Amino acid sequence: MTAQASTSVVELRQDGDVLLVSVNNPPVNALGAAVRQGLMAAMEQADASAAVKAVVIVGEGKAFIAGADIREFGKPPVQPFLPDVCNRIEACSKPVVAVIHGAALGGGLEIAMSAHYRLALPGAKLGLPEVSLGLLPGAGGTQRAPRLMGVKAATELMLSGQQIGAKAGLAAGLVDKPDDGTDPVAAGLAYARELLAQGAPLRPVSATPGRLADKAAAQAELDALRADTAKKSRGLFSPLKIIDCVQAALDLPFAEGLKFERTQFLACIDSPQRAGLIHAFFAERETAKIPEARAAQPRAFSKIAIIGGGTMGAGITVSALDAGLVVTMIERDAESIARGQANVEKVYNGLIAKGRMSEEAKAAILARYTPSTRYDEIADVDLVIEAVFEDLEVKKAVFKELDRVCKSGAVLATNTSYLDIDAIAAVTSRPQDVIGLHFFSPANIMKLLEIVVPAKVAPDVVTTAFELARKMKKVPVRAGVCDGFIGNRILATYKQAADYLMEDGASPYEIDEAVRGFGFAMGPFQVTDLAGGDIGWATRKRRAATRDPKARYVEIADRICEQGWFGQKTGRGFYLYPQGARIGQPDPEVLAIVDAERAKKGVTPRPFTAEEIMRRYMAAMVNEGAKVVGEGIALRPLDVDVTFISGYGFPRHRGGPMKWADMQGLDKVLADIEAFAKEDALFWKPAPLLQKLVAEGKNFESLNK
Ligand code: 3HC
Ligand code: NAI
Repeated sequence: MTAQASTSVVELRQDGDVLLVSVNNPPVNALGAAVRQGLMAAMEQADASAAVKAVVIVGEGKAFIAGADIREFGKPPVQPFLPDVCNRIEACSKPVVAVIHGAALGGGLEIAMSAHYRLALPGAKLGLPEVSLGLLPGAGGTQRAPRLMGVKAATELMLSGQQIGAKAGLAAGLVDKPDDGTDPVAAGLAYARELLAQGAPLRPVSATPGRLADKAAAQAELDALRADTAKKSRGLFSPLKIIDCVQAALDLPFAEGLKFERTQFLACIDSPQRAGLIHAFFAERETAKIPEARAAQPRAFSKIAIIGGGTMGAGITVSALDAGLVVTMIERDAESIARGQANVEKVYNGLIAKGRMSEEAKAAILARYTPSTRYDEIADVDLVIEAVFEDLEVKKAVFKELDRVCKSGAVLATNTSYLDIDAIAAVTSRPQDVIGLHFFSPANIMKLLEIVVPAKVAPDVVTTAFELARKMKKVPVRAGVCDGFIGNRILATYKQAADYLMEDGASPYEIDEAVRGFGFAMGPFQVTDLAGGDIGWATRKRRAATRDPKARYVEIADRICEQGWFGQKTGRGFYLYPQGARIGQPDPEVLAIVDAERAKKGVTPRPFTAEEIMRRYMAAMVNEGAKVVGEGIALRPLDVDVTFISGYGFPRHRGGPMKWADMQGLDKVLADIEAFAKEDALFWKPAPLLQKLVAEGKNFESLNK
């Protein structure tokens, strides 16, 4: 084997009569400009050299090619463009084989589809996930995938962004041959030689209609997908454009289809949704980069204990069992632990009922679960997560007990939503081991995990918490101690803004509709009804004594709770839920309560448009977010963004509240807050950080670096 030519990111080696093209651009071989240039040069060499009879493209490291270099989007494009690279590969005069191991995603799969033959190794992950970045496959993917896979399978792959393995790829027509080997180079060379021996022809996908040959059937499939997508895409920009591109694949010659795809791709690149979604992609990877990670290795853990088997304790137990951990659950008494165990089993029984789990698999998982009422049984666990009632005294008693029984070095975590974790840590002899792990309900489903860092905690306890999040496949966000941490603290503020809007003239139904129109799955009053109005009511009563008497207080929710209307579980709350309905109907009696409260306060109701509602709602969210960052409760604005996208249903395509504010212009957001402050200076007090950034002409993004 002799080295013939190499750039640093694309290496070329001649192996007998095969030119081996290795993409080596860690960590995931993204198709940056240098890789594109290297692939172009490789094809030139393949064509020019009589010694080359076939070409094999492989990726070095863990991926084949994970796609276009996402960091280049939004910057001036650099030649050669990816569609041209793909066309050049397809036009090569020698057979080209793509060897897929690991991720072949987006532009990576488009490169593979441009090759004449595709070999896939066991760990292959094939997909066109551009839609999740607000894009569409823009290097011929919308034209080649339907020819190879048929309209339905190809369009579903593009609309879902899902990945498929080698076997499914073979069944779908995307893969020519699966290979059991582990060495992509050896497998690729062997396949290329096999093809040469057979005299296998060049097979450019663009040259034939392939699975688009039956136009009428393809059109019928696409019509059905268009109707479905129009219903489901909820304001997203790129899904319908994907459908349009597939239509072009049906109607136009390949080259024309490719041109159409390019115009649609560029429109997506220019859309704010692309900016929001790509911000979310990188932000989710940044939140794990915390100061403690530099110095402190996580502590080892395999056995854990969960204290409390209620809503949260059971959900966390499922999450831990699914992560392969050994779990002991502790409850107060025999009856409570039986309920706790039933709560856990209910989740797995639900999966069995849906055909997604077997009885044997459930039994195997539950073999790692021990229910108990005796704290002494958890003396040897490595990590404890407490999820008992939200009551400081109850939690303190539990932590004293944990301090007594747990081995030295065990991590002691609390799932409290609001309480002072420093105070909880202080009742133990080991505050350095105490941390907050704030899961969200349902804990086995929700992705967000706020890792709340009290003053005295040791750095390796923080990194252990991040390691737990990784094992549980959660999105971790580092938060400081304050009332409500990042998420619930900001939520409390914008919920208050919603209450003010309601008392000032917008109905709860108009507010919910405006919030849904912005892209949230639910409005704030629907959320209250879902969570149970009694929970917020209890918190308000608890805080009544410490509330600033000058602060505006809206009593409408209290009036509703006084009727016993706690939301879905009682059949009515802000909405009516006749016969257990899950979608509520507006309730005239609630509107009468709202009217009565307005009259009592002497408020003359005024109309608000959806836009006016959202300006206040978002201004409150962003202002509190800026306070949370300014006080160091969140490390960076992106941590606030990830919290809201992963835990509070914030529309991902808007990138999170801080990204949204950057896109509006911080000066505009501050001007709104200052205007609203004329009505209520106490509530609408501008965050000092927001004022500072505006004064310096900077944005939140400048703090993310
Ligand atoms: N461009 C630039 N950087 C990328 C990247 C890409 N396409 N994909 C991943 N990275 C970076 C990540 O930001 C991360 O950087 P960091 O270490 O500095 O934080 C690093 O690579 C490793 O990524 P992960 O932490 O996500 O590693 P995993 O092993 O968990 O996952 C992966 C690997 C499955 C490839 C995952 O990174 C992924 O899904 N990447 C995005 C794939 C994608 O969306 N491709 C389509 C791009 S758009 C396109 O191709 C347009 C075309 O049609 C024209
Ligand atoms: P829950 O009332 O459903 O469960 C609490 C459980 O703790 C009960 O089963 C109770 O028997 C048990 N328990 C009480 N004292 C105990 C003790 N000394 N030893 C062992 N077990 C004991 O409450 P839920 O909703 O699960 O909340 C638990 C914690 O999680 C609270 O701190 C809450 O703030 C927090 N949380 C709740 C969320 C939610 O949406 N429900 C979301 C995030 C956090």
